[in-house]
Amino acid sequence: MDNKKTWFVTGASKGLGLSLVKQLLAAGQSVAATSRNAAALAAAVGNDNSNFLPLEVDLSDDRSVASAIQSTVDKFGQIDVAVNNAGYGIGGSIEELSDAVTRTSFDINVFGTLNVIRHVLPFMRQKRSGHIINISSIAGITANTGWSVYAATKYAITGLTDVLAQDVKEFGIHVTLVAPGAFRTSFLTAESLVMTDTPIADYTAIRNSHAKYAGMDGEQAGDPEKAAATMIQLVNMPEPPVYLLLGSDAYQRGLNKMEQLTAAFKATESLTKSTDY
Ligand SMILES: NC(=O)c1ccc[n+]([C@@H]2O[C@H](COP(=O)([O-])OP(=O)(O)OC[C@H]3O[C@@H](n4cnc5c(N)ncnc54)[C@H](OP(=O)(O)O)[C@@H]3O)[C@@H](O)[C@H]2O)c1
Repeated sequence: MDNKKTWFVTGASKGLGLSLVKQLLAAGQSVAATSRNAAALAAAVGNDNSNFLPLEVDLSDDRSVASAIQSTVDKFGQIDVAVNNAGYGIGGSIEELSDAVTRTSFDINVFGTLNVIRHVLPFMRQKRSGHIINISSIAGITANTGWSVYAATKYAITGLTDVLAQDVKEFGIHVTLVAPGAFRTSFLTAESLVMTDTPIADYTAIRNSHAKYAGMDGEQAGDPEKAAATMIQLVNMPEPPVYLLLGSDAYQRGLNKMEQLTAAFKATESLTKSTDY
């Protein structure tokens, strides 16, 4: 790695976040990482070196996030890279998911990310440098049946990241949307995934889709260690991309979606243009 940086990583007790934190510490970087349970995080990382700050944070609580970021700056003096990684899948049709579980998923997947960005930007803006990495998903570009609420949270991340990259460009701050395909983490396990507990029998396509995903657990093509290494590589690029798909499945699905959108837009070109004055 080029030089020593301070990283702030959310949702680090397992999966992609844990792989990233371990690799960063092994490379001598300073790392503040968040979890719902700081003791579980410290145990998972298994590292008591002074470069590591485990933080217990409720990402849905703006004050909890603000305090975690202030503690990071107090300890390390700055934050160079913020990785909004915490998130989870939620499965079911819209009518099978209550208002409460739907809002909670937005609290973590979307508002958690907004809270981190809101509190990290003043430090990055002052320094005129920094890199914000938002982990969306290929489901934030093209999603499958049965995952509408998850897709909504990840599309939100895609949209806010796209505009944020433009908003903070003049400050020398880089912003990247990372959109993974399927990676072999805890993502598809009952520990992480929230599934409807009020399935409606009519939705046969959704049940088939969920069964397919359940069968993928442990067989996903993506290696989280390689994803973590790629994120580190990304930060070392002089001109990092705004969009980075991870995994050959994400690459193919992303290109397919571009073709579908191009064909759909062209098919209705005259209708679309008919509304101009
Ligand atoms: N794996 C995939 O196939 C895949 C594909 C596309 C996108 N992603 C995205 O990649 C990111 C990392 O996921 P992963 O694959 O590493 O999954 P994971 O192994 O389940 O880890 C998810 C992390 O997010 C945090 N998290 C999960 N549920 C949470 C909740 N209800 N409240 C607060 N934090 C919560 C956890 O943090 P703590 O337990 O430490 O609090 C955990 O460390 C997520 O944003 C996910 O949407 C994953």
